Amino acid sequence: MGVFIFQKTLMMNKLFSVLFFLIHVWILTRGDAEVSCQLGQSCILPCSFTPGDDPAIHWIQLTLIKAKVHSYHDNKDHWVHQDQRFRGRTSLFKDQISKGNASLQLTGVMVQDEGRYQCFTSTITHKNTSLLTIRIECDAEVSCQFGQSCILPCRFTPGDDLVIHWFKMTPTNTKVHSYYDNKDHLEHQHQRFRGRTSLFQNQISKGNASLQLTGVMVQDEGPYRCLTSTITETGEFDINMKVYAPPQKINMKQTENQIICSSDGIYPEPDLSWSISPPSSRTFQNTTRVQETEELLYNISSSLTLSDGEDDLDYICTISTPSNQRRASWRRGRECSSSSGDISV
Ligand SMILES: *[C@@H]1O[C@H](CO)[C@@H](O)[C@H](O)[C@H]1NC(C)=O
Ligand SMILES: *[C@@H]1O[C@H](CO)[C@@H](O)[C@H](O)[C@H]1NC(C)=O
Ligand SMILES: *[C@@H]1O[C@H](CO)[C@@H](O)[C@H](O)[C@H]1NC(C)=O
Ligand SMILES: *[C@@H]1O[C@H](CO)[C@@H](O)[C@H](O)[C@H]1NC(C)=O
Ligand SMILES: *[C@@H]1O[C@H](CO)[C@@H](O)[C@H](O)[C@H]1NC(C)=O
Repeated sequence: MGVFIFQKTLMMNKLFSVLFFLIHVWILTRGDAEVSCQLGQSCILPCSFTPGDDPAIHWIQLTLIKAKVHSYHDNKDHWVHQDQRFRGRTSLFKDQISKGNASLQLTGVMVQDEGRYQCFTSTITHKNTSLLTIRIECDAEVSCQFGQSCILPCRFTPGDDLVIHWFKMTPTNTKVHSYYDNKDHLEHQHQRFRGRTSLFQNQISKGNASLQLTGVMVQDEGPYRCLTSTITETGEFDINMKVYAPPQKINMKQTENQIICSSDGIYPEPDLSWSISPPSSRTFQNTTRVQETEELLYNISSSLTLSDGEDDLDYICTISTPSNQRRASWRRGRECSSSSGDISV
C-alpha cells in the first residue's frame, strides 16, 4: 500500500512537472515579439526600458546553454563572457541608452542566430525582462547597382586552416574567388571576374568572408554560393544577386506634332507611361520602343502625338522599374522638369 501511494505521488509529480513545463513554455513563447533577419545582413533586436540611473543591459540567447550575447553596465560594454559566436558582431545604440533604448544591432546574421533571446534591463529603480524570437530568412538577396561596386555578404565561425570558395551557381559552377593557405588563389578564377573581386583581408580572421565585386555588370546577376571550411566547421551560404540600373535622365523633345520621351541604360526592363495634366478622358496616340544594349541594359523611347490647339496641357512621361521611378513633364513653350524617387519594395 505504502509503495503504491509512493508510486502514485511520484507519477502525479511527474505529470505536474510535465504540465508545469508545458504551461511555462506556452506562456514564455506566446508573447514573444518576432523579428525577421536576413542571412548575412545586419538586424536590430528591439528592446526598451524605463530610463533611469545606472542602466545595465544583458542580452542572452536562450539555447540549451544560455549564450551571453552582449553585456553593458557601468557605462560600458563588457566582453569577457560573450559567447564566441557573437564576437565582433554586436553593438548597442550608445547615444540611445539614456533614452531607454536597449536595442541590439547584430551584424552578419548566421543560421545559428535563429531562436529566442532575452533582453534583461535594470536601473536603480526598475528591472525588466523581455523575450524575442529571431527568424532567419534564407532567401538572402543583395541588390547591386550597375557599374558600381557591391558586397556579397558571407560569415563563418573563425578557425584554423581556413578555406573560402566563392562560386556563381551556374551548371558548371563558375569560380569567382578562392582563398586558402592565408592567401587568395585566383588561378582558376573565371575570366569574367578577373581583377574585379576581393575579400576584406583584415576582416577574414573575424569571420567575414564577404566578397567585394567591382564594376557590376548585368551578367553578374544570379545566385552565388560562399563555401567556407576551417578545422572545426564547414559553412555554406547562398545569396542571390540582383542588378539594377535606375533611369538616370529623361530626355523630352518635340518633333513636328510629337513629343518624344526617352531614357537610356536602364535595368531591369522599364515601363513607360504617359499622363496628361489636368487629367483628360481623351487618349493620345503613343508608341513605345525598348531596345537592349550591348551591356544588356535597356534604352526606352516613346512618342506621343500631340493634340491640336490644346496648349495648356502638361504631358508627363513616367519611366519605372520595380525599384525606381523617374518622371519628366513637357508643355508647349516650357522647359522639361524631372523628378525621381525610389519605390520601397
Ligand atoms: C533604438 O535606436 C535605434 C537607432 O537609432 C533605432 O533604430 C531603434 O528603432 C530604437 N529602438 C527602440 C526600441 O527605440
Ligand atoms: C517591461 O517589458 C515589457 C515587454 O517588453 C513591456 O511591455 C513593459 O512596458 C516593460 N515595463 C517597464 C516598467 O519598462
Ligand atoms: C565584412 O567587412 C566589410 C568591410 O569592413 C563590411 O563592409 C561588411 O559589412 C562585413 N560583412 C559582414 C557579413 O560582416
Ligand atoms: C497611350 O496608348 C495606350 C494604348 O496604346 C493607351 O491605353 C493610353 O491611354 C495612351 N496614353 C494616353 C496618355 O493617352
Ligand atoms: C542606347 O543608348 C546609348 C546611350 O545613349 C547609345 O550609345 C546606344 O547606342 C543605344 N543602344 C541602342 C541599342 O539603342
